[in-house]
Amino acid sequence: MKPNMQIQLCGLKLTNPVIAASGTFGYGVEFEEIVNFKKIGGLVTKGISREPMAGNQSPRLIETAAGMINAIGLQNVGVEKFISDKLPPLRHYPSCAVIVNVFGYAIDDYLAVIDRLNDAKGIAAYELNASCPNTKHGGIAFGSDPEMLFDLVSRAKSRATRPLIVKLSPNVTSIATMAATAQRAGADAISLVNTFLSLSIDTETRRPRLWNITGGLSGPAIKPIAVRMVWEASKAITIPIIGLGGIVTPEDAVEFLLAGATAVQIGTASYADPRATERIAVGLEHWCARHHVANVADLTGALDLTQPGSS
Ligand SMILES: Cc1cc2nc3c(=O)[nH]c(=O)nc-3n(C[C@H](O)[C@H](O)[C@H](O)COP(=O)(O)O)c2cc1C
Repeated sequence: MKPNMQIQLCGLKLTNPVIAASGTFGYGVEFEEIVNFKKIGGLVTKGISREPMAGNQSPRLIETAAGMINAIGLQNVGVEKFISDKLPPLRHYPSCAVIVNVFGYAIDDYLAVIDRLNDAKGIAAYELNASCPNTKHGGIAFGSDPEMLFDLVSRAKSRATRPLIVKLSPNVTSIATMAATAQRAGADAISLVNTFLSLSIDTETRRPRLWNITGGLSGPAIKPIAVRMVWEASKAITIPIIGLGGIVTPEDAVEFLLAGATAVQIGTASYADPRATERIAVGLEHWCARHHVANVADLTGALDLTQPGSS
């Protein structure tokens, strides 16, 4: 029997729960010759800002054990050019949900991007990157302070004409508190996790390996932490969760679903295998068939807490 891979996510009907993650899939259009967009649930564009941004100087991406650290600095063409040049080709793939990742360094910056995107066709939802530093408040990330997060999300929600997914920062003490805050402020869903703040040092030069000094750790190294955070968040909220962090195989995706995610995103894996999102989406369907799971949605939160070893 063919499993039903469709899922509902804050009013969106997705072909399957596997989505390409922000910053690792370009603007989407770069992958149209590589990935069969009919086989993936959706894609998240790289972060889009009010004005174009050049990003940080090199080196801005390094490999680590089981992952990588990036400090790209959110380079992008800005919202105007995104709408005129990058978005139109994506309208050829109506079954693939196009989610636009939005960021800013002040709430007004986020709102300006949302206002502009509201007028554009072919967007399924917005994903708000809450890991950005609030330059008006000493550079503390919006997503690491409950009050700032509440302010950002509630104001963004009042402007967005599409579902609002809030991407939380994992660099917090209590992810449950931040997830509950996002829900209270009106988020339609949350995605977690973004990258973990990290530092890598070249012992020969005694200097940081990245121009920006610190960067964000992603890839398989972070997966067990991300799964734990999805599980903790799922107990604190009722809105859907998109889980991500280090997913490389279909089984990795299943872990996130069992922990409470409704959908998953594939990030760093696309660097080693540009077709990873499609491969995992197809593999997840096979996994469901092999395990007699008729509806992929039934996996969400189906974690059995019976401890290993007990009968
Ligand atoms: C090079 C790179 C660029 C990224 N850019 C963004 C971005 O623009 N906005 C965002 O919300 N997350 C961004 N991320 C974070 C990823 O979307 C994802 O949350 C993180 O890498 C963890 O998932 P993974 O281990 O599957 O990569 C970026 C990650 C990488 C590696």
